[in-house]
Amino acid sequence: MARTLYIKTWGCQMNVYDSARMADVLAPLGFRPVDRPDDADLVILNTCHIREKAAEKVFSALGRLRALKAARDRRGERMIVAVAGCVAQAEGAELAARARVVDVVLGPQTYHRLPELVARAWRAARAPVLDLEFPVESKFDHLPEATAGQGVSAFLSVQEGCDKFCSFCVVPYTRGAEYSRPADQILAEARRLIAAGALELTLLGQNVNAWHGAAPDGGGTWGLGQLIRAVAALDGLERVRYTTSHPCDMDDALIAAHAEVPTLMPFLHLPVQSGSDHVLAAMNRRHRADDYLRVVDRLRRARPDLALSSDFIVGFPGERDEDFAATLSLVDRVGFAQAYSFKFSPRPGTPAADERIGRVPDAVKVARLAELQDRLAAQQHAFNAGHVGRVMPVLFDRPGRRPGQIAGRSPYLQAVHVDLPGAASGGGRLPGGHAALCRVRIDTAHANSLAGTLVGPAEPAAAAPTHALKGAA
Ligand code: SAH
Ligand code: SF4
Ligand code: F3S
Repeated sequence: MARTLYIKTWGCQMNVYDSARMADVLAPLGFRPVDRPDDADLVILNTCHIREKAAEKVFSALGRLRALKAARDRRGERMIVAVAGCVAQAEGAELAARARVVDVVLGPQTYHRLPELVARAWRAARAPVLDLEFPVESKFDHLPEATAGQGVSAFLSVQEGCDKFCSFCVVPYTRGAEYSRPADQILAEARRLIAAGALELTLLGQNVNAWHGAAPDGGGTWGLGQLIRAVAALDGLERVRYTTSHPCDMDDALIAAHAEVPTLMPFLHLPVQSGSDHVLAAMNRRHRADDYLRVVDRLRRARPDLALSSDFIVGFPGERDEDFAATLSLVDRVGFAQAYSFKFSPRPGTPAADERIGRVPDAVKVARLAELQDRLAAQQHAFNAGHVGRVMPVLFDRPGRRPGQIAGRSPYLQAVHVDLPGAASGGGRLPGGHAALCRVRIDTAHANSLAGTLVGPAEPAAAAPTHALKGAA
């Protein structure tokens, strides 16, 4: 039976990957994705709990769904509403009790059971169906093979969960303990994604460089450096990335991979959160500012063109003016290509939320965030401007904002836009049968993107297959 499915995704790339897998799990039951919740038989909200604002968005979305569901009811049609992801894991029981619109609540570790949960909700009519277990068996052993590819740039989950327990963070509670998928399972999925058109793979994990999975053929345990070498060796793959890393898990083999694996992109998201040792200790980050700088130096020695991005939290309890100044000086010292920064948001159940001493007033948080973001924006702009006049390989994966324009990513994940002379309106295939990976001369730098001119196909990629741009035809 043909049924329709709408998935709304918030949060990190892991949630984007999970949403794709949920669609895979439901495809054999006849569920076909649609772009609007209005016409959906099944709506899944894949949620994020990382900051307060993220969780609030779920409740307002549920409010909007209530009206849609009532309208469908009046037409004699059902709508099953499922809340998945990290808010579900953290507040599932409360959600089910408070929001009557919710039929199914499931955590990030049980989405392989979606068909059964949805069927039960369909039969049960009223009482919500909950599954918030952390099963002993891994969901990865129960997921079907991906049915659809993800296009030229694909995500692949290799590690999930976190044992670090930073004092501000909900992830160890919502995602559970660290789990590393075995290498052969990862390599098999990588091959399928490449066969479906992927030229770039991003290996995902909450703490991806803590990955230590079973090597193929019972060959002991590998670390992420070895896994990257094995993935990079797969035929047809042009680019490898991994995210998100913790500074304490940057081991020698991984740093060596940056020096020796040419397709490992020279861009690394390595969150530091703060430049103050006092704050880093209170955050339970398990390293000092100096340790971070040393790791950055080693990475840059291995790969001199490496650029970095980071996450920062301002206004952590106990953060004094001198602590914030230390963060600014670390930013100056490293020079980031890009970064995310947030005001500390107390999360229920985390140690930092109970911290009564040294709470930072909101006005101070706001001022510090603005100052930090100015500094980071200036660095990003300088980094982007430094590429004007240079030729860089760009992986095109989508139509641009304007008709006749295509967009892709540089090795540093900068968005790059190119006008294709004579291209049909609405974008199109790359002219001349070029592969999606091309060389582009950068003409202009903006705050968050670059614009340039197509020069030709990327050099050694002559054998790469030609791919239509997803959604651009
Ligand atoms: N696993 C990753 C990050 C996960 S969360 C890591 O270890 O870096 C993504 C980012 O959200 C964090 O790096 C942090 O900067 C931010 N964040 C997490 N909890 C937060 C909180 N309670 N308040 C504000 N920002 C938070
Ligand atoms: Fe959260 Fe820290 Fe784990 Fe990252 S390392 S997911 S910030 S607890
Ligand atoms: Fe959010 Fe969960 Fe990812 S809290 S950031 S969706 S791991």
